Amino acid sequence: MRCLLKPLPTASLSARSLQVVSRSISKRTFVRYLPAPQSIVSIPQVKPLRRPLQSQLLPTYNCLRPASSLSPTVLSVARRSTVSSNSRPYTTGHISGPGAPRPPRDNKLKAWPFVLIFFTGAIAFAAVLENRKDKPRPMPPTDTSSSSKELPKLRDDGPIFSPEAVKVIFVLGGPGVGKGTQCANLVKDYHFVHLSAGDLLREEQSRSGTEYGELIKTYIKEGKIVPMEVTIVLLENAMKRSIAAGKHKFLIDGFPRQMDQALKFEDVVVPSQFTLFFDCDEETMTKRITERGKTSGRSDDNPESMLKRFRTFKETSMPVVNYFDGLKKVVKIDGAKSVDAVYADVKAHVADRLK
Ligand code: C5P
Ligand code: MG
Repeated sequence: MRCLLKPLPTASLSARSLQVVSRSISKRTFVRYLPAPQSIVSIPQVKPLRRPLQSQLLPTYNCLRPASSLSPTVLSVARRSTVSSNSRPYTTGHISGPGAPRPPRDNKLKAWPFVLIFFTGAIAFAAVLENRKDKPRPMPPTDTSSSSKELPKLRDDGPIFSPEAVKVIFVLGGPGVGKGTQCANLVKDYHFVHLSAGDLLREEQSRSGTEYGELIKTYIKEGKIVPMEVTIVLLENAMKRSIAAGKHKFLIDGFPRQMDQALKFEDVVVPSQFTLFFDCDEETMTKRITERGKTSGRSDDNPESMLKRFRTFKETSMPVVNYFDGLKKVVKIDGAKSVDAVYADVKAHVADRLK
C-alpha cells in the first residue's frame, strides 16, 4: 500500500491534485485487489471520487511518470478510467460548488456564425460594388498644366455690360443635340447674334500667331473643357464687336460648360436672361454626330472623342443646367424630335422672351 502512494513526485503537482489522485488510486486499488480485511481497515475515511475528476487528473499523473515506471495496477486503473470517462456523458455525476473543477467543454467549433459572417460580408461587398458602378466618377478640375502659356487675366470689377442693355441667352445640350441648328433658326427669325463657344475656340486654334492653339487642340480632341479664361475672353471680344455694330441680343451656344465658366461670365461680362436646354438621349446624339462626322472635318466627331464628350457633358455641364434650374432660369426642350418639331417647341415656350 505504501509503495503505491509514495512514488508520486509531489514537487510537480499541487498538493490538492496529488492528494486527490492518490486517494482515488488507493481506493480503487485496494477495493479490487487487496484482501477484504485490509481494504476495509484502510479506506473508511476516503470518500469515493466521481469519474469526471479522475479522468481529468489521471492523464496528469501519467504525464508526470513514464508508463513503464508505473505498476500494472496503476496502469490498469488509468486505462479503465480513461475509457470509461470517454464513454460517459458529462451531464451526470459532475462535481459542483466553489473551487470544483469545471467539466471539459465541448471544443467543437460551431460553423454557422462564420458562414453567417461570410455571407453578410459578401452581400455588403456586392452592394458597394454595384453602387460604385452606377456612380459617375468625379471629374478632375480643368487641367492647365498641358499649357506652358500663361492664361489671360480676367477682370474682377463687375459685369462689363448691363443685362437691360445686353441680352444673353445660354444654349446648352449634349454634343450633337442640334444647338447650332436651332440657333440658326432663331437668328433668322429674331435677329440674334449667334456665338458658338466651340466655333470661337476652333477659330482661335487655327488663327496664325495664337498662343493657345496647341492647348485648345488638345482639349477639344480629349473632349475636355478649355480653361475658362480663354473662352471668356474670346466671347467678350466677339460681343464687343457686335455691340459696336449695334447688336445687343446674343445666343451663346455651348456655354457655360462648367460651373466656373457660368459664375465668372455672369460676374465679369453680363448676367444671362435664361438658359435654353435641349435634352436628348445619347443614342440619338451618337447617330447625329456620326452623320455630321462624314463631312464636318472636326477632330472630335469620332467614336472615341464622342464618348469622352458625353462623359464631360454629364459630369461637368449638367451641374450648370441644374444650377440655373434651381434659379428657375432653365427652359427645357425635347431635343430628340425632328428639327422642325424642336423649333416649334422653342417658339411655343419662349417666343415672348425672344423679342
Ligand atoms: O460646342 P461644341 O461641340 O462645338 O464644342 C466642341 C469642344 O469645344 C468641346 O468638346 C470642348 O472641348 C470645347 N469647348 C469648351 N468650352 C466650351 C465650349 C466648347 O471647352 N464652353
Ligand atoms: Mg455646335
